[in-house]
Amino acid sequence: MATGDPDDAPGDHVGTYRPPAAFVEQANVHEGLREAWDEQGAEAWATAADLLSWSTDYDAVLSNPEPPLTWFPGGELNAAYNAIDRYVESGRKNRVAIKWAGRLGETRTLTYQDLYHEVNALASALSELGVGEDDVVTLYLPMVPELTIAMLAAARLGAPHNVVFAGFSPDALAMRMESTESSYLLTCDGYLRQGEAVDQKNRADNARLALDHDVHTVVVDRMGFDVSLGEGEYHYADLVDDHGGETVEPVARASGDELFVLHTSGTTGNPKEVRHTTGGYLAHVAWTTHAVLDIEPEDTLWSSADIGWITGHSYGVYGPLLLGATTLLYEGTPEYNERDRLWELLERNAVDVFYTAPTAISSFRKRDVTVPDRFDLSSLRLLGTVGERISPSGWEWYRSTLGGGDAPIVDTWWQTETGGMMVATLPGVDEMKPGAAGPPLPGISVSVVDRSGDPVEPGERGFLIVDRPWPGMPTSLANGSGWAPDPSSYLVDVDGWAYVTGDRATVDEDGYVTVLGRVDDVVIVRGRRLGTAEIESAAMSVDGVAEAAVVSADGPAGPSLYAFVTPAGQETDELRERITQALEAAVGTSPVPATVVFTTDLPKTRSGKIMRRMLSNITDGDALGDTSALRNPEVVGELKSVLHGE
Ligand code: WTA
Repeated sequence: MATGDPDDAPGDHVGTYRPPAAFVEQANVHEGLREAWDEQGAEAWATAADLLSWSTDYDAVLSNPEPPLTWFPGGELNAAYNAIDRYVESGRKNRVAIKWAGRLGETRTLTYQDLYHEVNALASALSELGVGEDDVVTLYLPMVPELTIAMLAAARLGAPHNVVFAGFSPDALAMRMESTESSYLLTCDGYLRQGEAVDQKNRADNARLALDHDVHTVVVDRMGFDVSLGEGEYHYADLVDDHGGETVEPVARASGDELFVLHTSGTTGNPKEVRHTTGGYLAHVAWTTHAVLDIEPEDTLWSSADIGWITGHSYGVYGPLLLGATTLLYEGTPEYNERDRLWELLERNAVDVFYTAPTAISSFRKRDVTVPDRFDLSSLRLLGTVGERISPSGWEWYRSTLGGGDAPIVDTWWQTETGGMMVATLPGVDEMKPGAAGPPLPGISVSVVDRSGDPVEPGERGFLIVDRPWPGMPTSLANGSGWAPDPSSYLVDVDGWAYVTGDRATVDEDGYVTVLGRVDDVVIVRGRRLGTAEIESAAMSVDGVAEAAVVSADGPAGPSLYAFVTPAGQETDELRERITQALEAAVGTSPVPATVVFTTDLPKTRSGKIMRRMLSNITDGDALGDTSALRNPEVVGELKSVLHGE
């Protein structure tokens, strides 16, 4: 099997593919849908809202064509009711909602009925602790079923959840609780990360010390550690036992009310809050799970992303449960060092649709892995990717190895801010072009524009913008304030309303978008989105570091993060090790795919700004162009020689 070059250029389509006839026949969405939606405009999104149960009907699809706007104004609904109760009521209570696979091979299965019981018991307990509508409940948990249960329990009470990725540091947790004024925290005793036990309770305690306000803390027993509880602390299992059998009325939320907050990396140092609505977000997510992931109620969907990221929220939790399907939660990440786990999990759970990041695919492909004969992956009907550009050859590998040579692949472009998928092929309708995500989904309008906001010619690079409102838009955009990325890095002058995504892209004659990467200081590490500013400040906090700049580039060590460090004193292996540890803590993953490069200086403009673009060009081995803006051009030669031995 040819694995090809992992780095083949975007847009180098190896060919185009039609979805196989057998798939087309059973698909949820058929030919003609795009045309029908185009004719209806925003009204077409009623089809998405109809996948939900509303306690009060909405009056209109969209309040205004321009912000401030509300999707499905007048409508009321509850997320937990939509994800659980309606399936219990409709006689599907014994259908499996969650299949959990633990790190050590443990398994747990929850039917919709089980989920109903546990979510109600926890919601009742939280309500007794004081959680009311609009109180933010923070969840600092690894991939355990209790994380999903807690999200739904909060949603049942109309309390926005605030999930903080379990691998993040106590500081990151404190910052996210402080900014959301959150006084409720669910965490656990500990968990396994890359085979090592992490004392999560201790980390949570450290975060709480940094807060000015009191925090009620609920501790899930994941590891069986002996945790002694202080004032305001409770064992999760005790709460659920004490409140077992109790039910809580799902709180009716207005469509535009907040369902959750999730922090993501922006262009400035601090992560930004992204708040998603109840009606618009859920409609968007339910519809894309139905139309793009092609999920039917009898399906099992495995979305491998951690719930700490938006993909886990939208397609690990809400999407599959809103459709009454089964979601597989795996406590680890499918990577090569656990290679048989991937096949085992797919086979044992008869996964119908697998959704993962290109990083996971490359980790297998680099080693030319084939599926051992003893595994049967024939249950897989559709494959999806998200988070980064997938190379055409990675796409081909995914299809031939996991997809049995003919499963359609959906390459989905979207962001934390968009809530759900925005650009992707409809798997039973559209032709696929490996390497290009696809056309905008029905009801979505995107453009690739130049600095003046004018659409670029097919094949030319430009900035990707969304120029019509969409249901999964966050509250800040709906209210009319955007986040145009840092104007000093580039400026897009768009006429009228638009959301500037921060991505660079091309579009071809057929309207297929290829996303090339970020234009700002956001980097994607192992499919996870981080700000270089956050990582740099971690490196800078290491004793012995004078200055640091981080870029993501494809250098001599392959695609990874490169941290350029000017030491205050000696360049030692010990310093390198401490920097690596700080980077691991910031990224929340170990080992971190980062290379530390010592240098006597960093390339700077005359005004003293570090030129990160130049650092990535040097690392990539690209042409540097004009270096006259540099105050210290001699550093270029030094870096080239350290990196490439030139
Ligand atoms: C990148 C993840 C290429 C992009 C859902 C975007 C992609 C950022 C793709 C958002 C794709 C996401 N092809 N790049 N199919 N999907 N990206 O907020 O740069 O964690 O802006 O949301 O990931 O990352 P976030």
